[in-house]
Amino acid sequence: MCGIIGITGSKDAAPLILGGLKRLEYRGYDSAGIATIDGGKIQRVRAEGKLINLEKAITSNPIKGLTAIGHTRWATHGSPSETNAHPHATEKVAVVHNGIIENFRALRLELEGLGYSFCSRTDTEVVPMLVTHYLKEGLSPQDAVVMTLSRLHGAFALAFIFADIPGLVIGARNGPPLAVGYGKGEMFLGSDAIALAHLTSRIAYLEDGDWAELTPGGVTIRDAAGQVVARPIIESAYSGSMVAKDSYQHFMEKEIHEQPGVVGETLKMYINAVDLSINMSELPIFLRDVERVQLIACGTAYYAGLVGKYWLETVAKVPADADIASEYRYRAPLLDKKGLAVVISQSGETADTLAALRYARQAQPTLAVVNVPGSTMTREASAVLYTYAGPEIGVASTKAFTTQLATLACFSVAMGVARGVIDGTQRQELCKSLLEVPGLMSEILKLDRAMQALAHNLMHARDMLYIGRGTSFALAMEGALKMKEISYIHAEAYAAGELKHGPIALIDEDVPIIVLAPSDALFDKTASNLQEAAARGGKIILISDQKGIDAIGDVPNAVIKMPEAHPFITPLLYALPVQMLAYHTAVLKGTDVDQPRNLAKSVTVE
Ligand code: G6P
Repeated sequence: MCGIIGITGSKDAAPLILGGLKRLEYRGYDSAGIATIDGGKIQRVRAEGKLINLEKAITSNPIKGLTAIGHTRWATHGSPSETNAHPHATEKVAVVHNGIIENFRALRLELEGLGYSFCSRTDTEVVPMLVTHYLKEGLSPQDAVVMTLSRLHGAFALAFIFADIPGLVIGARNGPPLAVGYGKGEMFLGSDAIALAHLTSRIAYLEDGDWAELTPGGVTIRDAAGQVVARPIIESAYSGSMVAKDSYQHFMEKEIHEQPGVVGETLKMYINAVDLSINMSELPIFLRDVERVQLIACGTAYYAGLVGKYWLETVAKVPADADIASEYRYRAPLLDKKGLAVVISQSGETADTLAALRYARQAQPTLAVVNVPGSTMTREASAVLYTYAGPEIGVASTKAFTTQLATLACFSVAMGVARGVIDGTQRQELCKSLLEVPGLMSEILKLDRAMQALAHNLMHARDMLYIGRGTSFALAMEGALKMKEISYIHAEAYAAGELKHGPIALIDEDVPIIVLAPSDALFDKTASNLQEAAARGGKIILISDQKGIDAIGDVPNAVIKMPEAHPFITPLLYALPVQMLAYHTAVLKGTDVDQPRNLAKSVTVE
């Protein structure tokens, strides 16, 4: 949700900033821009739309300077035009911003009253105006920034450069993440470690309220009270090569195909393959006393949470519920001391999920299931279980989802063991089934061609339905989300048993219905719902194993044959065909698969 980057050093900064923006583009692609300091003046190039437009603009109008900031935008206030693109600047200061300045209207009125005139419709532009105002009053850049920060309400990560002090970059954080990167004779700021992966691996994350002064020689970080503080420097695991597409057409395609590997990695971290036990030493001892689990997340991560709810109830026999973070945080849910809040997030930064974590931790232990090391949730939760997906760049989540599932599956077994509700034999059976997942995923990926062929039947659909029961209902929801976010086809998921309570009215011969039905305990029930849909002319695509396919006969218009598997692991497997179907449908439709319209990957605003 907007990516920002800053550099001060001894090299021409604009090309380096562009390299960082390429890595940050997943956070927004409505516009992009760069500002440098050259000869005591702010130079700025901005362009509407994707980064490629900015690259073209810079090629025809190169800007020089050793100090620079850059921005890639996901529009919140003001349309995605060049005028609204960051950096916003006066002749004295240029600013890039991720987040929302909630009191910008009042500040704008005040500044207009003082004679300042605004060019854009953004909330951000009040920031350079305020800094300029304080600079004109005689404050130093540092003091002008501190004064400005004290006037802002909302969530922001900001980076500033100053016409009169080349070599100085100031960064400030209140909400969205901001990392400082350490180089030799150069220093960097970035929304995340990936942005700086081509520049350095030595990273320190600012805490909320921190602001940092960067010069080529180093950084001084101060907290909200103005005290100089040291934030730990970590070695980031991301390297430049890890964020390449390799031979794949899209990041999403690459990430789909990485799943056997990264799910295998995740399982390796949590399962001891020798004695088939769970190794989650990070988990505090209190687990056995937990009487209720609340899983909280947004988007795809929420669907992983829904699967987790089913697993926790059936495997660990603990009452569990899944909640959408933006609902949970404002519902004032009652917090039971014996409850455990589990937040799930690829980025570890999603604003609503983070707010939910902060709410829950007032009274409950919290556990974060997160992919990005060092992210805010990992620092604020009582315990962390990492997913080992590696950097996920495609906006539509794939491998982050299945590694979340792998982690939650192991967690459910660990909880079942801790609570004494599963014995050694059951534990071993569940762990063994999980270890079969990577191999089965590789088999399923061989269906890619068949999926591509099927996608031809879907690409002209206007509406689609996805149905399933139990964990397959959660997977149906994830499948429908994947389809709508990248192919723009309206897709809805229903619990198969709910079909007859309304959505069945939508069915005609133009509506494809994806039925997720592994041959498990609920198969016969879903099969009846499939028949009801087929009887009304619906075009059925059945995703099931040989047993299920045989049982249904020739009713479906198409089948996707999955390997037979232990019912515990089917959510991990059935994720793949719904991802592949969405991917190929989108490719055929020619949509922008990795950067679908209106979306962004890291949602750091409410
Ligand atoms: C956005 C992304 C989704 C993601 C969701 C939650 O909507 O497009 O792919 O599932 O945010 O993000 P998180 O980083 O918290 O998992």
